[in-house]
Amino acid sequence: MNAAPVSVPQASPGAACLAHKAAIDAAVARVLESGWYILGREGEAFEAEFAQWLGTARAVGCANGTDALALILRGLGIGPGDAVATVSHTAVATVAAIEMVGARAVLIDIDPVTFTMCPRDFAAALPRHLDLRAVIPVHLYGQAADLDAIIPPARARGLSVIEDCSQAHGASLGGRKLGTIGDAAAFSLYPTKPLAALGDGGVLATNAVELADRIAALRQYGWRERYVSDLVGVNSRLDELQAAILRARLPLLDAENARRGTIAAAYDLALSGTRFAPPARRANATHVFHQYVVRARDREASQAALRAQGIGTAVHYPVPVHLQPAYRGRIATGPAGCRETERAAREVLSLPMFPQLTNAQVETVCAALRSI
Ligand SMILES: Cc1ncc(COP(=O)(O)O)c(C=O)c1O
Repeated sequence: MNAAPVSVPQASPGAACLAHKAAIDAAVARVLESGWYILGREGEAFEAEFAQWLGTARAVGCANGTDALALILRGLGIGPGDAVATVSHTAVATVAAIEMVGARAVLIDIDPVTFTMCPRDFAAALPRHLDLRAVIPVHLYGQAADLDAIIPPARARGLSVIEDCSQAHGASLGGRKLGTIGDAAAFSLYPTKPLAALGDGGVLATNAVELADRIAALRQYGWRERYVSDLVGVNSRLDELQAAILRARLPLLDAENARRGTIAAAYDLALSGTRFAPPARRANATHVFHQYVVRARDREASQAALRAQGIGTAVHYPVPVHLQPAYRGRIATGPAGCRETERAAREVLSLPMFPQLTNAQVETVCAALRSI
């Protein structure tokens, strides 16, 4: 098959890294020469700088975003016999983390406008699942879940609120940064994320200092003191190379998010009068557009038409978690099922989005959108 070459890729982790090559090279050289490669000064400095940027008392680095969620659950003592509510329209990692600690997931449907957890379905699920211990709202695509509506019923039932911020570094709700509103928050630092390592990485944040201390021990064999396992822990460390690279990139994040916002505004304009519905913004919130996602009823045809004009697209996510082969038939969904989740999986289409897109590339995408 001779597909047209893509002139505008949907994502480009390489472009993001090469844009900051000198700073990344310096970070790598510093670690190489330090002779210390796991849990050292770079990791400590990254945790302090990330916590300060976010506005939490503590941040703890770990191996990836899935582990960040699982470590928070472990730190809260959630495991076998417990249930955790989240959504099915997410990276499978959110659900995998719940099962990693031996808990079971209850998957709530989404609000069709924002693609995030439907607070009504969440509230309706509460009396049906008396083993629920926590809820993980996912701030999908860079936009806040409706925490103002989710947190009060969660608190009334004594549930912990864990924000999945893996796509929402720097986004906010009501003037508060996402990741500072619940009891704890997990961030993936995977290479395509708004804040990204050059490999796997994760960080979790909380204002609960005791919880952070417990998790810091859990991520390294339960050690509080070297070779003494106070707790049954795991190995989930952020290495010094990734920490140093993340330190180089963190100061650029706010400007990069602003660039994503500029690109999103250009797409919004181009979409008016077309058959695509542009993404809705929650009122009183800042969307950081990790992904710019439209609904397209004829998704395959739209993808092909854009591809013919050299525009790459992606689908986040084509199969809801509760319909994946590994989960199908054995995972609880909300009281009304996951109808909106399943419709979203058929219709969502992610347009090119990364801060290094040039104005010319953005205009190419806009012209293609107007033309189909
Ligand atoms: C919403 C969400 N949660 C969790 C994760 C897991 O992160 P990681 O791939 O770093 O384990 C991701 C990343 O893919 C994600 O997008």
